[in-house]
Amino acid sequence: MHASPLYEQVANKVQGLIDCRTLRAGERLPSVRSLSREWSISITTVMQAYRTLENRGLVEARPQSGFYVLSSLRTALPEPRASQPSEVPCDVSVPDLAMRILQDTSKPDLVQFGAAVQNPDLLPTRKLHQMLGTMARRHPERGINYSMMPGSADLRTEIARRQVGAGCALAPDDIIVTNGCQEATLLALRAVTKPGDTIGVESPAFYNHLLTADALGLKVVEIPTHPREGMSIEALRYALANHRPAAVLTVSSHHNPTGATIPDERKRQLAELMSEYDVPLIEDDIFGEMNFEGDRPKAAKAFDRTGNTILCSSFSKTLAPGYRIGWIVPGKYHDTIARLKSCMNYGANALAELAIAAFLEEGGYDHHLRRLRRTLEKRVRWLRESVAEHFPEGTRISNPSGGMVLWVEMAGSSNSVCIYRRALAAGITIAPGVLFSPRGEYRNCIRLNAAYADESKEKAVARLGEIVRSEAEQTVSGTT
Ligand SMILES: Cc1ncc(COP(=O)(O)O)c(C=O)c1O
Repeated sequence: MHASPLYEQVANKVQGLIDCRTLRAGERLPSVRSLSREWSISITTVMQAYRTLENRGLVEARPQSGFYVLSSLRTALPEPRASQPSEVPCDVSVPDLAMRILQDTSKPDLVQFGAAVQNPDLLPTRKLHQMLGTMARRHPERGINYSMMPGSADLRTEIARRQVGAGCALAPDDIIVTNGCQEATLLALRAVTKPGDTIGVESPAFYNHLLTADALGLKVVEIPTHPREGMSIEALRYALANHRPAAVLTVSSHHNPTGATIPDERKRQLAELMSEYDVPLIEDDIFGEMNFEGDRPKAAKAFDRTGNTILCSSFSKTLAPGYRIGWIVPGKYHDTIARLKSCMNYGANALAELAIAAFLEEGGYDHHLRRLRRTLEKRVRWLRESVAEHFPEGTRISNPSGGMVLWVEMAGSSNSVCIYRRALAAGITIAPGVLFSPRGEYRNCIRLNAAYADESKEKAVARLGEIVRSEAEQTVSGTT
C-alpha cells in the first residue's frame, strides 16, 4: 500500500490535535514557519497541510494573521455508529415512499434534500446540449439509428481511458454501454442470480438496489457497514461462509447513503475474498470520480484477477442523468450480460452516447469535475455545519470524503417517516432512513442531499431542526 503524501500525514496529525481539543475553536494554528522548524518539514509541506485542513472545513486562513481553528460545531458532531444488522437473510420490504421521494424531484418549489439527484446548476448543460446538436448534424444516420450493443466504440474508448484512474486496465471491448447505472446493476443481478437466491448488501443500502432485489425475487443478507470505511470484510467472510449468497452488491466509494469509501487495501481484500468463494461482486462505482481531495479512490475491480467483479457506473451524477448513459464491465459474465442487454433494449441512446463521447474527448471533463468536486465539498461541509447548529444534541452525522449525501442519525427513537411528512408540509423533501433497510430499520436516520445546500437554505435546515426536535420530544412523551 502507498503511504499517503507527507502533507496529508501532517494535516492528519494537526487534525488529531483539533479533534482532541489541544487546539480549540478560535485558536491560531502554529505559524507555518514555526511548525516547519519544529517538525523538520518544509514550509511548502506545512502550507499544503494547512490548505488541506482548510478544504476539510476545519480551519480558515485570515489574511496577514495565519490559520485559525473554525468555531463551527463540525468537529463536535460524532459520526453515525457502524451498523449491526441481523445476520439472517430476509425478503425485501421497502415502502412505496421510495417512489414518492423520486417524484418530489419534479417539484421545483420544494427544498431538494431528498433524492440523491444532481443539481443541474452544477452540470455543463449548455455545452453538452450544444454537442448533442453538433452530433445530430454531423452524424444524422448514426444519431437516428439503433446504437447496437455494446454501444459506441468512441464512448467505450473514452470510458476505458478514464478507468485507468480507478486502477482498471480495460479494453473498449470489455465495456457495454447501458441506459444508466441502474440498468447496469439490474443486468448484473439478472445474469448471476435466480429468484429465491440471497444477495449480500451493505447496511444501510441504496434503496433502488433493494427495490431491484425485491423485483427479482431475491432475499438479502445485510453486511455490517462502517460510516467511513464501508462494508466489513470480516462480516462479509462470515456471510459468504454461512449464507452462500449468489452475489454481493456494493457501492464501494462514497456510498449512498453513508458516504463511506472502502479503503483501497480493503478493496483488494474484498476482491480476493469474493474470488476465493467464487461469488460475483457487483460494484456500483457511480460516485467514484466525486472525491473531494487527492486522487479518486480505486475501484475493487482494479484488484480483480479472475473476472469475478462486475463494474457498473454512469454519468448521471457528473454530466447528465437525463441522457441515461451508463456502462457495465461484465468480466467473465460478458456473454450472458451481452445477450440480456440485447434482448432488453438493443442498446442505449445513440445521440447521447455521441455527445458524451465528444464531451469526454474535448469538452473539458476534468476541468468540469474539478469544479463539481469543489462545489460539492463546500456544500457538504456547509450542510454538516448547518445541521450541527440546528439539530438537537445527540445528532450524529457522516463525514464523507466525496459524493453528495449525508447520513444523519438522530438522537433517541425519532420517526423519520413522520419527519419526512412534516418537512414536506413545510416545503422540504428528505429521504427517511427506513428506505435504506429491507426490514424497516434506520427509523431514526435520514439522508440529506447536499447538492442543493448553500447559505440560501439556512432557514430550511433550521425548520428541519425544529421538526426533528419536536418529533424527538413527542417520542419521549409518547405521543407519536
Ligand atoms: C448508488 C447509485 N447507483 C445508481 C444510481 C442510479 O444511476 P443511473 O441514474 O445512472 O441509473 C444512483 C442514483 O441515485 C445511485 O445513487
